[in-house]
Amino acid sequence: MKLAVIYDSVTGNTKQAAEWIAEGMNQVNGTDARAFHIDSVDAEFMACISGAVIGCPSYMAAMTPNMHAWLMSAGKLGLAGKLGGAFATEQYTHGGGETVIQSILTSELCFGMLCYSGGSSKGKPVIHRGPIGVNGNVELQNGMENYSQTFRIFGERFAQKAAELFGAD
Ligand SMILES: Cc1cc2nc3c(=O)[nH]c(=O)nc-3n(C[C@H](O)[C@H](O)[C@H](O)COP(=O)(O)O)c2cc1C
Repeated sequence: MKLAVIYDSVTGNTKQAAEWIAEGMNQVNGTDARAFHIDSVDAEFMACISGAVIGCPSYMAAMTPNMHAWLMSAGKLGLAGKLGGAFATEQYTHGGGETVIQSILTSELCFGMLCYSGGSSKGKPVIHRGPIGVNGNVELQNGMENYSQTFRIFGERFAQKAAELFGAD
C-alpha cells in the first residue's frame, strides 16, 4: 500500500513534520509511505496511492499561497475516493493551524477524498482535525520536537485506517 505526505515548507518545520508522519505510516506492515514537497510530487507514485496527508505552515492563519495554488491544480491527480488527512505547523500556539487544516480538509472533500483524523477513537493523544506542530521560533517553551510523537502516531493511525479500507498490499 502506497501513501503520500505532501507539504509546503520554506524553513523546514513542515518538512520535518511530514517526515515524521511518513515514518509513522511506515510502521504499518506493507506500507510504502513517502513525503514530497509540492514542487516535486512524483506523479507515478501518486497514481498508485491509497491515501494522502497534506500539510503546510500557517501564513496569517491560512494555508500558504503556494499550497493553495498546488491544491487548485491537484484535481488531475485523481484523488477521489482516497483517504485524506491534513496537518500544519505554526509559530504561535494559537497561530491558525486549525484553520489551515480545516481549509485543506475542505479541498480534499472537494476532490471527493474520504477525510480521516482518528479523532478520539484511538485514545490519547486525541487528534480532532489533524496534528499541529508549534515551533520554537518565538515560544521558547515550544519546539517541533515536542510534537514528533504526535505526528508519528497520526501517521500510523492513518496507515492503519487506509489498510483496513483498501488492504495492506
Ligand atoms: C508570511 C508568513 C506568515 C506567517 N503567519 C503565521 C501565523 O499567522 N501564525 C503563526 O503561528 N505563524 C505564522 N508564521 C510562521 C510559520 O507558520 C511557522 O514558522 C512555520 O512553522 C514555518 O514552516 P516551514 O518551516 O515549514 O516553512 C508565518 C510565517 C510567514 C513567513
